[in-house]
Amino acid sequence: MNYQEIYDKCVKWKQTHLLAYYDELDDTAKQALLAQIEETDFSVLNSIGNKETAAHKEKITPLAAMELSEIEECAERFMQIGVDALRQGKVGAVLLAGGMGTRLGSDAPKGVYDIGLTRPVYIFQRLIENLMDVVKLVGTWIPLYVMTSDKNHEATVSFLKEHAYFGYDADSIFFFKQEMAPASDYEGKIFLEKKNKLSTSPNGNGGWFVSLDRAGLLDYIHTHGVAYLNVFAVDNVLQRIADPKFIGAVIEKDVAVGAKVVRKNAPDEKVGVMCLADGKPSIVEYYELTDELMNTKDANGNPAYNFGVILNYLFRVADLERMMSKKLPLHIVEKKIPYIDADGREVRPEQPNGYKYEQLVLDMIHELGTCLPYEVVRSYEFAPIKNATGVDSVESARLLCKQNGIEL
Ligand code: UTP
Repeated sequence: MNYQEIYDKCVKWKQTHLLAYYDELDDTAKQALLAQIEETDFSVLNSIGNKETAAHKEKITPLAAMELSEIEECAERFMQIGVDALRQGKVGAVLLAGGMGTRLGSDAPKGVYDIGLTRPVYIFQRLIENLMDVVKLVGTWIPLYVMTSDKNHEATVSFLKEHAYFGYDADSIFFFKQEMAPASDYEGKIFLEKKNKLSTSPNGNGGWFVSLDRAGLLDYIHTHGVAYLNVFAVDNVLQRIADPKFIGAVIEKDVAVGAKVVRKNAPDEKVGVMCLADGKPSIVEYYELTDELMNTKDANGNPAYNFGVILNYLFRVADLERMMSKKLPLHIVEKKIPYIDADGREVRPEQPNGYKYEQLVLDMIHELGTCLPYEVVRSYEFAPIKNATGVDSVESARLLCKQNGIEL
């Protein structure tokens, strides 16, 4: 596209401010800006208009979880099935580490954050140590696919390399980058990050499977007979990864996906809960959970929507491939987005100042048809680090690590 065509595209989407500094730029910078505008999908901005109507319209009904007591009864069998699958190389792990972790307030990738007290203990290290427990148990390496983004790829790769992958087999670690999306103010005007660069951010964790495929890793998965992928978040430093019992339960129940869940600690706890939406497994976000749903009881008198997801899912690859062409909904998320102001000065806001546009992994569940919510012990497996202090923070995670005998 030439300048005029780019200008026309900007007019169409009310984004001409993106060319405000064009005349000041040298030729290379001009070309970079035009190329970025050409390849940017402005249609994500349409979702601002859908913000209020994005909530569930389907009929929400409860979806029973496999609870701890049932898991305990079947533990031996699940364990055997899971260990066999792992030994046969049928399971891979996918670390979602493309997020910006803005709430934690560090510019570095979240995984390089040191939560140690008497020695360095990095978040990546904790996760790899957890996975290593299973590697030692089954006696074989488990392929680990690490999703990064343009913003943190180099820093992530070099950090892990520098630390010799915390003892993990370098040949069993694969990196892939996720896609980016523009970030805008509340009116849908895309921010400029530099005079010749639109502000972009990772497009959410929902695009992980498409990105994995784009990076050529799906071919590897086929060639090596990997049939299940355990997707997990970077920030839960206690979660069990490639957990044999969880794998065994999902295989035995013959479902497209298993979701680790924890019992909510209060009816209004801010976690997405498992449910059925028009009869299909789904996750209702905490802000969509009406009082009526919150107070609904099951046949035993327990809250019917009592299990929250912890972003640890086991997906069956064949089912993921079937849903690959489906477009996931876009969520609008309020975030702090650095930008340059009208005078060309860089601003790093203290408070959220605009929207990012994200696809979420939880929306994949709805497309898959069958899901097993699988209860795990909260105090043993759920220590998310979202903030520096307070709820779901470095402090709370340290406490939970200590309770679990992990020396920090
Ligand atoms: P969060 O929802 O906590 O988002 O991600 P975030 O961007 O990391 O953090 P904040 O909201 O800015 O503080 C949950 C998981 O999904 C991954 C994160 O790395 C984390 O493991 N994620 C999130 C991605 O991989 N890509 C994304 O675009 C967003």
